[in-house]
Amino acid sequence: MITKINSCGLKGIDGYIISVETGVSGGFPAWEIVGLPDASVRESKERIRSALNNTGYVVPGRRIVINLAPADVKKEGAYLDLPITVGLLTASEQIFCGSLSKAAFMGELSLDGAVRRIDGVLPMVIKAYQSGMTEIFVPFDNAEEAAVVSGANVYGVRSLGQLIDHLTGKRMIAPTKVNIDEIFGKAAKYTYDFSEVKGQENVKRAMEVAAAGGHNVLLIGPPGSGKTMLAQRLPTILPDLTFDEALESTKIHSIAGKMPKGAPMILTRPFRSPHHTVSAVALSGGGSNPKPGEISLSHNGVLFLDELPEFRKDALEVMRQPLEDGVVTITRVQGSYSYPCNVMLVASMNPCPCGYYGDRKHDCTCTPKKIAAYLGKVSGPLLDRIDLHIEVPAVEYDELDSKEKPESSADIKKRVDRARKIQTERYRGTGVYSNSGLTPSLVEKYCVLSGAANNMLKAAFESLGMSGRAYNRVLKVARTIADLDGSDIIGESHIAEAVQYRSLDRKFWA
Ligand SMILES: Nc1ncnc2c1ncn2[C@@H]1O[C@H](COP(=O)(O)OP(=O)(O)OP(=O)(O)O)[C@@H](O)[C@H]1O
Ligand SMILES: [Mg+2]
Repeated sequence: MITKINSCGLKGIDGYIISVETGVSGGFPAWEIVGLPDASVRESKERIRSALNNTGYVVPGRRIVINLAPADVKKEGAYLDLPITVGLLTASEQIFCGSLSKAAFMGELSLDGAVRRIDGVLPMVIKAYQSGMTEIFVPFDNAEEAAVVSGANVYGVRSLGQLIDHLTGKRMIAPTKVNIDEIFGKAAKYTYDFSEVKGQENVKRAMEVAAAGGHNVLLIGPPGSGKTMLAQRLPTILPDLTFDEALESTKIHSIAGKMPKGAPMILTRPFRSPHHTVSAVALSGGGSNPKPGEISLSHNGVLFLDELPEFRKDALEVMRQPLEDGVVTITRVQGSYSYPCNVMLVASMNPCPCGYYGDRKHDCTCTPKKIAAYLGKVSGPLLDRIDLHIEVPAVEYDELDSKEKPESSADIKKRVDRARKIQTERYRGTGVYSNSGLTPSLVEKYCVLSGAANNMLKAAFESLGMSGRAYNRVLKVARTIADLDGSDIIGESHIAEAVQYRSLDRKFWA
C-alpha cells in the first residue's frame, strides 16, 4: 500500500511543503529513503526503528521505499522522523485512521519514542496552514510557538504513543491555543531603562536622534563612560514592534533555534551583542547547513558591536552589503537563501588602545602611530555607513551623585514615536521607512533648508572639509532633528546639531 503524509521543510525564512510518500510491498526486506535526504534524514531509520519498538510497533520486514517530494530539493534535519513514521504505520496497515490529507506532521523522535523539539516550527506551520492544512502536529515543546498561527488546530505531541492514540481515535490530544491579542497587547517589557543613566544629557539626546531616524551610531569614549550601558537601552526608545515585524523576528529566531524559553513570540526589539571574536559566518549567517547570523537575529532591532576595532576584519567586511540592503543572501549548490536584516547598528570603541585619548582627567599613553593603527582597524566604508558619531565623555561625580531622576525611556519614546509617524506618512509609497534610508534623490526632495540653514551648512562644509557623503549624512540627520522639532523646513539649529555629530571624523581621523 502507498500513503502520502504532509510535512514541511525550510528554505530561508519560509517553509515549503514536503510530501512523504511511503510504499510497503512484498519482496526482500529492505528500506530505502529517496528524494535527496541528508545524513540526518537517513539516520532517521535507526531512531524510528527504536521508537516503534518501544511503542509496541515494528518496522515491517518487507520492501519499504520512502520518497520525499519534491525530489530535487535537499532535505536536512530530523523533523521528518514523525511524518516518515506515520507513513510507515499507515502504509504497513499497523494503524488505521481517517483521511490525513489536511494534516501535517513535523518532529524529531528519540529512541524511546518521545518527540523532541525542533527548530523553525513557526515558518513551517505558517506554510502548512497557507497550503490548506488545518490539523498540524508538532513537538509539545514547540506547540505554543506554532499556535501563534491562528486558524489551524495545533497539537503538541509528547510521544509517538500519544500521537497514535490520537490518530486512531483512542484518546484525543487537546489543541494548543494561545491568545495572540492578549500576548501581543502586553506592553513591551525591557529590563533596562534610560532613567538609570545619570547625566550624559548630550549623549542621550544623540541616542534619541538616532532612534527617531533609524540612524546607525558609533559611540566613542574612555573605559567606563557608559557606552555599553547606553547601547543596551536603545531598544527601549524605539517604536513598538508591529505584529508583522514580531512575526518575522520570531521566524528568524525559530529557525536559528534561539527562541527564548516559554515565549511563543518575540515581542520586544531584539538586542544582540556578539563578542568581538565572532566569525564572519556567525555574524552574517551561512554555513553548510545555512542558518541566520547575528545580523539577522537583530532584524527589527539593534546589533551592538562593542569594541569595534577588535572585530575580525573579514567579519566586518561581509557585513557591509547586508547592512546596506537589509537582507543577507547565501548561495549554495542547493539554491540561495535570504534572511532579512533590517537593523540599527550601534558600535562602540575607545578612542585609542589605552582608552584615554582626548580625556580630560587621564593622560593618554599611546604614541600617535599606535593610535593611528588602532583607528585604522575600522575601515572607511564601514564608518561611512554610520550617520552619527557620538562622543561619550567620562561621567562627572556630581552627575552620578545627583538625586534628580533622569527622564524615563517611555518619555523619550513618545517623542521618537511622533517623529517616526511624520516619516511614515511622508515616505508612504517610496519604500523608505525612516530618514536613514533616504536615497540621494529623496534627500534632495525632502531635505529643504531655510536660507540661513543653507548658509550655515555651506560654511561648515568649507571650514570642516566635509566630503560629499558626509554632506548627505548631515542632511539626513538634520531632517530627523527637524522632525523631532515638528518642523517641515530644516533650520539653522537643526543643521548646527547635525554637524556636531560628524565632528569626530575630524577629531580622531584627521
Ligand atoms: N551615566 C551613568 N550613570 C549611571 N551609571 C553609570 C553611568 N556611566 C557609567 N555607569 C556605571 O559604570 C558601569 C560601566 O559602564 P559601561 O560598561 O557602559 O562602560 P563602557 O563605556 O562600555 O566601558 P568600556 O569601554 O570599558 O567597555 C555601568 O555598568 C554603570 O554601572
Ligand atoms: Mg563597554
